[in-house]
Amino acid sequence: HAKLNLTLDVLGRRPDGYHDLRMIMQSIDLADILELDYNDTKELRVSTDLHFLPNNEKNLAAQAALRWYESAVVQNPGKWDTEDLKRSVNFDGLDVTIEKHIPVCAGLGGGSSDAAAVLRALNLMEDACLSPEAVASIGALVGSDVPYCVIGGTALAEGRGEILTPLPPLPRCWAVLCKPEFSISTPALFAKIDSVRLRCRPDTKGVIAALEAGDLAGVSRRMYNVFEDALPERQRTRVNDIKNTLIQCGALGASMSGTGPTAFGLFDSEDKAREAWERLREFGGEVFLAQTV
Ligand code: C5P
Repeated sequence: HAKLNLTLDVLGRRPDGYHDLRMIMQSIDLADILELDYNDTKELRVSTDLHFLPNNEKNLAAQAALRWYESAVVQNPGKWDTEDLKRSVNFDGLDVTIEKHIPVCAGLGGGSSDAAAVLRALNLMEDACLSPEAVASIGALVGSDVPYCVIGGTALAEGRGEILTPLPPLPRCWAVLCKPEFSISTPALFAKIDSVRLRCRPDTKGVIAALEAGDLAGVSRRMYNVFEDALPERQRTRVNDIKNTLIQCGALGASMSGTGPTAFGLFDSEDKAREAWERLREFGGEVFLAQTV
């Protein structure tokens, strides 16, 4: 499943070059479809229906499988042949086929959620019975958002993104998403945020209180993402235009997800959400109507 950031706050840069974050995440039913099949080629093969995505170890789904087999050896020493692992991975071979629906480089955790799906699938296929937390900790070796994507639902993510606290679920609602035509480099925006004066910070505590009260409007009007301030002027204008359209169509609140550029709004009415979806489709970009999971 794709994820939305209901809030995203950057607390500071860390000595390891990463940033300490505080963010509230939410899964939606926009999802990629993955198929995993053993093969007897001794190779890990990843293929997607998007020609520009890597089909080698650069693909997060492939990295997830590699980290899985390394970790599985560590955690179940008797079960795996380490000589095989040294040759590459300790299996006869695996095909991972990905049907992409989540837009790429969009701030929606598309690559991270594919990695999380591979880890969850291997946990079942290999009968490893690792807890979700143990699977998530392998995910942290692949990317900062992968642990959350393993757990999903509504959660507070802190540290690099790997320290997770489940939160009361967001009341079921509709989300309309629009990814503008341009893409954003996550490392570049993280590098820029250090020199940007943040105008405003999200009210994370207020959002958590609203979640505890089951108050969808209260959550929606407090949504905020500090990366909006770090966008170049033209891109920020485009994101703001999308947010304004969503609000005009009756969204309870609108924000940008992750490092963008996808902007989204939350709706308590399917009719209004559908109207917003149709309106945004006239302006271009990739537009989606989804429900929270
Ligand atoms: O962990 P991941 O590889 O997904 O992160 C991508 C990039 O985002 C990192 O190389 C880093 O530049 C930035 N990042 C960060 N602090 C985080 C998460 C990501 O600076 N907590």
